[in-house]
Amino acid sequence: MELEEIARRLKIWMEGGKAGPVRMELHPTDSCNLKCIFCWRKENLKPTKKELSEDELLRIVREAAELGVMEWIVSGGGEPLVRKNATLKVLKEIKKFGMWGLLTTNGTLMTERDARFLVKIGWDQVQFSIDGPNKEINDFLRPPNSFDRAIRAVKTLRRVRDEKNSTKPYIGFNTIINRINYTLIPDMIELAHEVGSELVFFEPIYPGYSEIDLRIPTEDTKKLKKVVRRGERIAKKLGVATNVRDFLEVQLMDKSKLRKKFLKEVEGIDGFLGVPCFRPWYLMGVKASGFSGCCSTFEIGEFIQGKSLKEVWYGKTFMKLRKEMLEKNPPYYCDKCSIVVLMENRTLREMLRRV
Ligand SMILES: C[S@@+](CC[C@H](N)C(=O)[O-])C[C@H]1O[C@@H](n2cnc3c(N)ncnc32)[C@H](O)[C@@H]1O
Ligand code: SF4
Ligand code: SF4
Repeated sequence: MELEEIARRLKIWMEGGKAGPVRMELHPTDSCNLKCIFCWRKENLKPTKKELSEDELLRIVREAAELGVMEWIVSGGGEPLVRKNATLKVLKEIKKFGMWGLLTTNGTLMTERDARFLVKIGWDQVQFSIDGPNKEINDFLRPPNSFDRAIRAVKTLRRVRDEKNSTKPYIGFNTIINRINYTLIPDMIELAHEVGSELVFFEPIYPGYSEIDLRIPTEDTKKLKKVVRRGERIAKKLGVATNVRDFLEVQLMDKSKLRKKFLKEVEGIDGFLGVPCFRPWYLMGVKASGFSGCCSTFEIGEFIQGKSLKEVWYGKTFMKLRKEMLEKNPPYYCDKCSIVVLMENRTLREMLRRV
């Protein structure tokens, strides 16, 4: 449904019109209670403007609804539940306007009260970042005790949801695949099933922020593919949703830069269909400082303070980024992006060919 809406709006741009973003990614804070060894949050710790106020956050939600936004990803930055009051108000406001929402959290600060709140407002999805199927692996990548605390939160949310006979929030794991945990993909799926999580979303690691080498060695490709196939079979048997198959189809081990991969995808394709990434036309990101960009991994953008969302979305900075993307000149930070985005672009390109 949502991809169809994205394709519909992209078609408007393709035909010379203009359309608002479908998806918003918001970081309520850059503060975090954990220090995971691989985390790209380190990038956000440079001095920035102070955090957006609660009023500004709520204003952004309202303006987004007016602009036609349909879905929200509330994440970090840091840990959204470190700024619990403001974050929960934002989630409530998103639901008040009937938009769909996903919260990504490390889970360690989620109480039963928070779980009840999420069920009550009809929040759509919570993804808990868990990077290993046991304490040993998870608490090596994430700090001590984070495994037990996150698993407790998953179980609590599931219990509260079941007590209320609700199917919302849909519960998932977010698991960053790397050399320490990749052989345990099937175990992650089994753990998810055991504790009441319905999805395991695997993401490849962006290795640039870790002091130890977390990349999966190229020579392990065959082993990874075998593990992925086993994971897929187990997920099917247990009824756990997963994107693990993506790890079969793309050259994850290829060390060449991602920006080049995005460009390679559109070699020989002209016009709008040939843009390396469609995100600048359908996704807006707002960091805790108010710095906003027209995708998720942006480093070029403008501050939202004192401007309406609409002004920024159709403003000079975003339009210039779109123009450069059309000219097959994506920004340097596409190197830090994700294969998952590349896959989403492939799907959208196919959809646009058909409409
Ligand atoms: C930055 S965290 C913010 C939300 C929350 N603190 C959490 O851990 O879920 C959002 C997601 O980014 C992931 N992440 C952090 N550093 C990463 C990296 N270097 N490569 C890939 N994913 C990363 C985390 O594991 C988490 O799932
Ligand atoms: S909990 Fe999230 S934001 Fe905090 S260090 Fe870990 S991955 Fe980064
Ligand atoms: S970083 Fe580049 S590839 Fe990634 S979403 Fe943004 S524009 Fe697209």
